[in-house]
Amino acid sequence: MDPYFMIEHAHELATPLGKVARKGAEMKDLRLIPDGAVIWQGDTIVFTGTSREAGSWLDKTLKPGQKIEAIDASGYTLIPGFVDPHTHFVFGGYRDDEFNSRLAGASYMEIMEAGGGIAATNRATQTASPEELYQSGWDRLERMLDLGITTVEGKTGYGEDTETEDKMLQVMERLDRDHPIDVVKTYMGAHAVPPRFRGRPDDYVDYLIREGLPMAEGRAEFCDVFTEKNVFELDQSERLLEAARQRGFKLKMHADEIVPLGGAGLAAKLKATSADHLLKASDHDLLAMRDAGVIATLLPLTAFSLKEPYARGRFMIDQGLAVALGTDLNPGSCYSQSIPLMIALATIYMELTVEEALTAVTLNAAAALDLAASRGSLEVGKKADMLLLDCPNHGHLSYHFAMNLVEGVIKDGVMVRRPPTLTGMAR
Ligand code: NIG
Ligand code: FE
Repeated sequence: MDPYFMIEHAHELATPLGKVARKGAEMKDLRLIPDGAVIWQGDTIVFTGTSREAGSWLDKTLKPGQKIEAIDASGYTLIPGFVDPHTHFVFGGYRDDEFNSRLAGASYMEIMEAGGGIAATNRATQTASPEELYQSGWDRLERMLDLGITTVEGKTGYGEDTETEDKMLQVMERLDRDHPIDVVKTYMGAHAVPPRFRGRPDDYVDYLIREGLPMAEGRAEFCDVFTEKNVFELDQSERLLEAARQRGFKLKMHADEIVPLGGAGLAAKLKATSADHLLKASDHDLLAMRDAGVIATLLPLTAFSLKEPYARGRFMIDQGLAVALGTDLNPGSCYSQSIPLMIALATIYMELTVEEALTAVTLNAAAALDLAASRGSLEVGKKADMLLLDCPNHGHLSYHFAMNLVEGVIKDGVMVRRPPTLTGMAR
């Protein structure tokens, strides 16, 4: 008989509900339970409710001799584990020099066109050993776990050649196996046009279709493309994504980040799982995304770091879109995995309410990875991925801004970060 585990007496349990993305006005609807409790067995939630209801549930359910380990979470807020649906967390080298020249006035695209930017990370990733990439990737995952991220998406795309892309994928596969955080893998061969294909992006897309997609097939769940002027235009993006879909990849796009090119419209046409960034997306394309059920994944830390105007999160939700939030952790446009700062920017500058922001970084972020059936909310049957926040209620996620309130992290039913004051739960 497998033992049960229980968290009881949480000052508040706060969670969105459902197995699909919450759209528009639904995003603000949270289930809030004072004196909340969750019971789980193995890695699966079997009960949620008040602590009193948990007591009667156990009286009915516990078999003679069956063990229950309980922890008292008085004073804490209990929420689902965060899901980060957009990162480039495996890479070699750093670009602090570039960051500082951007602060002095250089633009992201100027740096990229001069051979820096993504190309600089490509060179460093090519020369890095798998061990080095694994170690730095591991360290980044550890910081994410401290911040309450229990599932993360990671992209290839610093490869330029199939061999390096394969190396990145292998590193993510090993990290997924070894580290408590689940890593959802995305193939992003179409991140920058390598120097040997300079001026011939179509030939590079042919190369990716011929070599890259077969290499990543069955290993990466998603295929993504940097659809941008002078990088991959709409027709090139569409050709690659169509080929990827035929091989079983689900689709994502970096769309309308720097200039309004119409990437969001293409994401709608292709019924991609998500379109990400969307700083410059037109009203028309956003409404097409809504009608096609494409999730808008917004990345406010990148807009902050590039000093660009934020994506129009309030408008999107008011128009009925499902919005998710991600960090976009990468060595260039956004070297930060700060969920607390991301929530501050989303609530203060994108004008999401704190309830909408919580939905965006849990259930809707899971939906952006096609995982909403099993994660992103505290409900019976979902994975026991949850966080104990050192605050009385979920409102502090925006109010106590830019601070990490996460003290306890339970991943797959195991406490992997323990609040200093809590006792019990020996494992
Ligand atoms: O999401 N825009 C393209 N890709 C990343 C940046 C990658 C990099 O600069 O290394 C992004 O912003
Ligand atoms: Fe990105």
